[in-house]
Amino acid sequence: MRISIRKHPSRTIQQSSGLAVLVMFSVVCLPAVLAAGWPGHGRRHAVSVAQGRSELGARLFAEDRFSSPNGDFRQSCAHCHMTNQDPEGARAYTDFLPRSWVPWRSTDPRRDGLRNAPTLLDSSEMPRLHFDGEFGSLKELVKGTLSGRSLGWLPGEEKQAFAQAYAVVAGAQRETAKSGQSYAELFKEAYSVDIISMTQDQVLDWVATALSDFVRGLKSERTTPYDEFIRLNGLDESPSAAETPTAYSSRILKKLSDLQAQKRLKLNARFNQAALAGLKVFLRCDQRPGAGNCVACHAPPLFSDFRFHNMGISQGEYDKAHGDGAFAQLMIPDAASAARPAAQFKETASAAKPAQADLGYWNFVRLDSPDRRPDETADSFLRRMIATFKTPTLRNLAYSQPYMHNGMYPTLEDALSELMANSDLARAGRVRSADELLSKIRISKADIAALTAFLSTLNQDLGKTRDADY
Ligand code: HEC
Ligand code: HEC
Repeated sequence: MRISIRKHPSRTIQQSSGLAVLVMFSVVCLPAVLAAGWPGHGRRHAVSVAQGRSELGARLFAEDRFSSPNGDFRQSCAHCHMTNQDPEGARAYTDFLPRSWVPWRSTDPRRDGLRNAPTLLDSSEMPRLHFDGEFGSLKELVKGTLSGRSLGWLPGEEKQAFAQAYAVVAGAQRETAKSGQSYAELFKEAYSVDIISMTQDQVLDWVATALSDFVRGLKSERTTPYDEFIRLNGLDESPSAAETPTAYSSRILKKLSDLQAQKRLKLNARFNQAALAGLKVFLRCDQRPGAGNCVACHAPPLFSDFRFHNMGISQGEYDKAHGDGAFAQLMIPDAASAARPAAQFKETASAAKPAQADLGYWNFVRLDSPDRRPDETADSFLRRMIATFKTPTLRNLAYSQPYMHNGMYPTLEDALSELMANSDLARAGRVRSADELLSKIRISKADIAALTAFLSTLNQDLGKTRDADY
């Protein structure tokens, strides 16, 4: 597999052309508009504020001076969450790596971070962020990332990290009139605030706000072959407020078969018979052969329930390192004695360190979480949360391989084969703390082919995709 990540974002080009347009607007149109008494002033102001915010956000997103000077390279959000920087193909705000690369530190010598970078499209819809739900809001996530391992900072270096971010934006390292437009000017345009007169904490809060707003603007489009198919056939795009995903899926399956019986179902080259077969597998929850039960967790329109499930992925990686059945034997403390989050359980399994594993949401879930059932003890609840990870969206998978929280599956076929194998293991009672719905996935190899045809209809056109060379 070829790996290339050190491509630098080409935001500056877009940015300067955006600015050029603004300058042109002021020079050419302003006098005329002023003479005419500034009609539509409010709307125009809103447009320029929106443009200012997106320019500021893009600049902060690509800023590599926030990273630790003690790492071996400088990192920015855009290095791991790429779009079109790499000649190998378009990305949905992810990189190409199984696990994102972090700057090397002599006291924490590692190249691989803990997890695969997920797409950022629609991530602002997620009530909790990161695969393990560590963050409850985008602002929290941004502050954690600016002072975290992704940017080369070690635990305990938060103060230094924030001082550096402040220095870059509003302090000693800020741009001067000579070195180009300053963050101070951009903040003034975007948010009407003067960051130079603020305290370090206030400035950081504005940086977090600006980056959060930028991420909030990253949305998938309803232009995919699947979305067209839904519209063309008058199907509801998501369950209604009171409807479970399974009730929704039986309703849609019934409508599909009615339309087919009446020969009124409209297919086309972008959404063909194979995709339709895959959609049916995806929707079926009847637990007979060919029922994917996928919709139970990957609910449209974003194809995620935003919740956490153990699909046996962490166990698979652990057992690969330590032998079949090893994860079942791993010592995991009970609710009364567990100190969470636990560094030992936020690690990648490795042959040299058998006490380490990635237990996902187990690290962060609160014992009084609404996920806990009324009849569940704290301990059985926490046990159920072992190795649970957030359900990812299934939109734009063509631009986000490799798959799963550990990036161990280069293709969709690999990812779905693993789910098929793990569902067999779960039925045999051999997945520790398996999600109850895992054993309800009943798919075969032929179903996997249909499912991949269906999943490929969830890609919008983001540009050239990478050639499959695995
Ligand atoms: C070293 C690579 C790297 C850098 C740099 C990085 N990220 Fe990430 N990002 C990741 C990875 C990996 C994850 C998944 C982490 C996890 O689940 O534990 C992630 C997760 C996220 C998520 C959550 C997505 C979701 O669905 O839960 C958001 C939002 C995000 N990053 C935004 C940012 C922003 C903003 C920055 C810059 C301040 C940034 N990232 C910098 C690699 C990176
Ligand atoms: C019980 C809930 C659940 C069910 C049922 C389920 N999934 Fe998932 N799916 C998840 C979770 C959670 C993950 C992330 C697991 C991880 O990384 O550890 C995931 C990951 C994936 C991924 C990888 C996506 C990525 O970006 O890495 C694909 C593809 C996928 N599921 C497709 C399917 C299909 C197709 C079905 C039906 C055959 C299905 N899933 C059934 C919860 C579910």
